Parts: sequence; C-alpha cells; structure tokens
Amino acid sequence: MQDYHSFLAEVLIPEEQLKARIQELGEEISRDYAGKQILAICILRGGVMFLTDLIRHIQPLVAIDFMGVSSYGVGSRSSDGHVRITLDLTTSIGGKHVLIVEDIIDSGNTLASVIEMLQTRHPASLEVCTLLNKASRREVDIPIKYCGFVIPDKFVFGYGLDMDEFYRNLPFIGVVDLEKYEAKD
Ligand code: IMP
Ligand code: MG
Repeated sequence: MQDYHSFLAEVLIPEEQLKARIQELGEEISRDYAGKQILAICILRGGVMFLTDLIRHIQPLVAIDFMGVSSYGVGSRSSDGHVRITLDLTTSIGGKHVLIVEDIIDSGNTLASVIEMLQTRHPASLEVCTLLNKASRREVDIPIKYCGFVIPDKFVFGYGLDMDEFYRNLPFIGVVDLEKYEAKD
C-alpha cells in the first residue's frame, strides 16, 4: 500500500500547479517550434510522467524516444567522460530538432554527459526541457531552455520521481522527510 503520509514533509508542488505549468511549457514549445518537427527524448525513468503530459500540449508534429542512462551518483561520468547508456535510442537523431525531457536537474553531471554524447550524432538542434531545477546544486553549467520550477535543495518524490523505485505515480511533487522515510516499516 502506498502509505507515504508518514514521510511526506510537505507537498511542494500540487497537482493543479503542475498541470498549469506543464500546459504553459507545451504552449511555449509549440510557439518556438512552429512549422518544425520535434523529437522528444525522455530520460528514463523519472521523465515519463512529464513527457506524456507535456506532449499533449505540443501542437507541432512530435515523435518520442527513450534513453536510459546509468547513474553512478556523484560524478556520474565514467573515465572516458560519458555516461553509460543502459538503453539507447531506436531513432537516429541526425538533422532532427531534439528536445531532451528530464524530470530534475541536480548537479547537472548526468545531463552534461548526455548532451555531449547526443551532439556527436549531429542533431539540427538540441534543447533541454526539465520539470524541476535544483539550481543551487549545479556543478556543471547546463543550457536549460525550458524549466518548470526552480526548487530548493530538498529530496523530492512523486510525479515520476521515485523513492526506491516506488511512488512515481503520485500526482504531486512532495518533499521527503528522510529520517521518517528510513524509520518507516
Ligand atoms: P544529476 O546528474 O546530479 O543532475 O542527477 C540527476 C538525477 O538525479 C535525476 O535524473 C534524478 O534521477 C536524480 N535526482 C536528483 N535529485 C533528486 C530528488 O530530489 N529526487 C529524486 N531523484 C533525484
Ligand atoms: Mg532521472
């Protein structure tokens, strides 16, 4: 059973606020890409909810694809400077207008490596759309074109973001009380 109440410190972004902001982002993207075709690339798994809701508000033609990358925690780059791809795209991105759709950017290390790797495949353009931005935690500069919310340095869950792989299906973004989470069951 999904009993998250014992470790939910606060609801940071309620469902209605998420919906409204995601609609705005979709409309902004639609204006910017008018007359073009978009390839939206979702970084698994956290970005899934955001991607599916976002593309419902995108008017230009939009195709989707998925990419899985391994997270090594701090400094998620391997020695050759690239993240390890656990699931690669099935589409070739050469000459396409690629929009990376992410749940959250924290240190920025993961996305920096993904961007670097995708650039070598020569897309026509490459932009980043993130739902959440923990700006105060940034270690590497990431050019973020579209951002839903800048959030404080707190561990969040829900709406795609997990706690030990669960709770991704909650409709809001909540802050975790880590002490209470560890003490649960
Ligand atoms: P970065 O490489 O430090 O930017 O890490 C980004 C990844 O860390 C995200 O794609 C998330 O999977 C994970 N992450 C960072 N902060 C949180 C959080 O507050 N809740 C859940 N996952 C997080
Ligand atoms: Mg992620």
